[in-house]
Amino acid sequence: METTRLAVVSNRLAIVVEKGNDGKWMIKSGSGGLVTALGPVLRDRGGLWIGWLGSNLQGSMDDGALEELLAQGSRETGYSLKPVDLTQEEIQKYYFGFSNEILWPLFHDLPSRCNFDPAYWRVYEQVNAKFARAIAENTGEEEDYVWVHDYQLILVADQLKKMGVNRHTGFFLHIPFPPLDGFIRLPWRFQILEAMLQYDLVGFQTVRDRRNFMDCVRMLIPGSKVIGHGQVARCLTPKREVLVGTFPISIDFKQFAEFAGTREVQDLAWIIHANLPERQLILGVDRLDYTKGIPHRLLAFANALERYPELRRKITLIQVVVPSRQDVPEYEALKHEIERLVGEINGRFTEVGWTPVHYIYRSLNRVELLAYYRTCEVALITPLKDGMNLVAKEFCASSIENNGVLILSEFAGAAAQLYNGALLVNPYDIEGVADAIYEAFIMDGETRHARMEKMRRSIQKNDIFHWVNAFLRAGIAKDLSQFPKA
Ligand code: UDP
Ligand code: G6P
Repeated sequence: METTRLAVVSNRLAIVVEKGNDGKWMIKSGSGGLVTALGPVLRDRGGLWIGWLGSNLQGSMDDGALEELLAQGSRETGYSLKPVDLTQEEIQKYYFGFSNEILWPLFHDLPSRCNFDPAYWRVYEQVNAKFARAIAENTGEEEDYVWVHDYQLILVADQLKKMGVNRHTGFFLHIPFPPLDGFIRLPWRFQILEAMLQYDLVGFQTVRDRRNFMDCVRMLIPGSKVIGHGQVARCLTPKREVLVGTFPISIDFKQFAEFAGTREVQDLAWIIHANLPERQLILGVDRLDYTKGIPHRLLAFANALERYPELRRKITLIQVVVPSRQDVPEYEALKHEIERLVGEINGRFTEVGWTPVHYIYRSLNRVELLAYYRTCEVALITPLKDGMNLVAKEFCASSIENNGVLILSEFAGAAAQLYNGALLVNPYDIEGVADAIYEAFIMDGETRHARMEKMRRSIQKNDIFHWVNAFLRAGIAKDLSQFPKA
């Protein structure tokens, strides 16, 4: 395991190339847990990261300038960066189209939002083949372990095989895997399932996702069976044997906890609260996405104000919405719906000196995000479905005085780990969520402390480094005797 080099493959590369205020191109490190977690591993093993730069740079920058930026990025990160360039058509049909208008809604149990356009499939295959070619050119059969991430790249191992290229591969699905009756609506269900089985290890966020996957395999691929129930099981099909595991992703707990205690975060947290005195602040932080349940949450907040009048003037909802996937029509419509609801609630309940909902539509920087995590007494995280939801874990890690209350959807992957401390809710149950808001509001300090402590302990133990190690241990393991026997 120690000598194997790691090649990480994800739709987005670990750096972002963008134009600065001076009109010059520059690179920025990508944000998110994946970059934090895999960076040190890649550095130690001398690995590489293959991915898309996130925008169509063709024609806007000459090759030499891009090479220079990538070389600078490689020097700064300590590992090689290999970009996969996508044309405008590929971005539209592979990224916005197949990935985000088909797989994303289908895998989040929202099939009515799918646009099963056959033109998307062909480009999805084409782009996955492009990624496979980049892997073939930059890695070797013996020395590299290829770790592919997420729904945008399901076909990569299959494409490698079609090209006659042998690689040791693992795949991790960051989003949920749907139940059989949802999955079978996919016109390309056989191709997707067979392609997932071309990896040597397939990892899921929760036991439920893995069970859904195995139900689909058993039903759609006759003669398949699964052996074992532990973290890693064996899936036997007539053609192949694949390991299937459960690896809940996490955060760099220590980094969040330490940063939450810094002067700059504390100062800003104080300013936020000083501007909204004598009330409990409730925080929602989400990408603009219909899976996050933001309209349902706003209705639940209004319902709480309606049914528990004593909450008026005493609570404020701060809803942060981060712009996302703006070319997908559903996302644009959602933005208008959220803004209409915020306007309606504020129009109805606002009193002198109190506005019930504060709405922020932009990405926050690290200090701002941590300041909101620290200063808000309650986090209201109510996705209709979510692979994990890292915001829930980040809120807990930042609650360094153990005084925060987490209201969490039972349909977020994080609920499988935080159920012992969070107030679990069904996000579709508007009155139930409203009751939880009230329960959080009146919860005494001792109970808050006990609940938050449990959640923080669990996240600290199962942090992002634990996740990377668990996956790589199963993926790179040469000795398979530790896994259930056939
Ligand atoms: N985040 C951010 N800036 C913001 C708000 C959120 O960088 O203004 C980050 C947040 O720290 C978290 C990620 O975005 O790590 C969201 O991850 P999550 O799993 O909650 O949802 P996803 O967006 O992946 O569906
Ligand atoms: C989710 C997905 C990721 C994706 C991220 C942001 O977390 O699992 O694969 O990168 O959302 O979405 P975007 O479409 O902007 O990459």
